[in-house]
Amino acid sequence: MRAFLYIVLVVISCDGISSLLLPGKEHDRLRNPAPQLSWFSRYRRLSRPSHRVIDPNEDCFLVTSEEGELFYKSPSDEPNVCGIYMIAEPDTRIQVTFNYLDVPCDNGGLVAWVDGWELNGQVWPADSWDDDRVVESCDRRPQRKLVSRQNAALIQYRVPAQGKGFAITVRHLRNPRPCNVMLFGAEGVYTLRNHGETGNCSVIAVSPTTVRILDLNVGQALKRGSLLDIETGTIHHCTKRGLPDYVEIGGASGLDHTKMEVLDSVCGLDSNEGRRPAFIACEDTVVRLISNGKFYNSVTLAFSPLPLEELEHADLICGMNDL
Ligand SMILES: *[C@@H]1O[C@H](CO)[C@@H](O)[C@H](O)[C@H]1NC(C)=O
Repeated sequence: MRAFLYIVLVVISCDGISSLLLPGKEHDRLRNPAPQLSWFSRYRRLSRPSHRVIDPNEDCFLVTSEEGELFYKSPSDEPNVCGIYMIAEPDTRIQVTFNYLDVPCDNGGLVAWVDGWELNGQVWPADSWDDDRVVESCDRRPQRKLVSRQNAALIQYRVPAQGKGFAITVRHLRNPRPCNVMLFGAEGVYTLRNHGETGNCSVIAVSPTTVRILDLNVGQALKRGSLLDIETGTIHHCTKRGLPDYVEIGGASGLDHTKMEVLDSVCGLDSNEGRRPAFIACEDTVVRLISNGKFYNSVTLAFSPLPLEELEHADLICGMNDL
């Protein structure tokens, strides 16, 4: 874990990486507290990587939603830190197999599998993070297949030895009970469920978005006994009312959704689609479902990109409290 944190620090402090994380277009963004574009759109995506060699000049920060084989060969002895950010459909897990790994441990050579994403020192999903989520290697490849708990995972690497590198195969496996989910881009409809279990599940869109609840059934369908089949409508501020199960809608300035700013907490039974959407002007849009285990909860959400003209009357603008 220490070495992983070191990598994180290197990512933050290393000029090469910072310039990649902050390309020229960033200046507009910095002047405006509300980001206008999903950062996904600023990076190259792989189109057809079924068999692909990573270009060290173009792909140091690589976001891919494809399956296939990826090869990396270091062009120099520079200790640059790069990442392969993998994301797949919400109901999948990501499996990575190292086909070969030839990375000398000297000078800090390292390849790390991360069961989740790390960006600018923040990890996702932060509330269920543990040391098992990071597997570091050099010299020897991990023998077992590495499988993520959710639909996003990361390979971080630093290969300061010219001509050395690694090869991986990426596969997407079905996940019948997704809990934490990352949306690829700002568009989509997704249903969060607790499957009757205790705990918290969440969906994050790495983008400012418009979120609309299409269907809400939270804190109503009892696991034992009868269904309280009353359309309560959407109940707002459920946490203030002391209701145990609720949905939090808000945003975060980074991947760590435990630091989210909450716009509203809602619960109840409401199948009316005619609700007003929430405009979330944050780097990331977050919806969390908190369940105490007594109910079958579900919430169906529609995400779409935040229109520029809605920016100034957004319901939530992240980071305003810091100004
Ligand atoms: C779930 O979320 C609630 C409210 O944020 C928190 O108090 C609780 O500790 C969380 N549970 C887990 C298992 O993380």
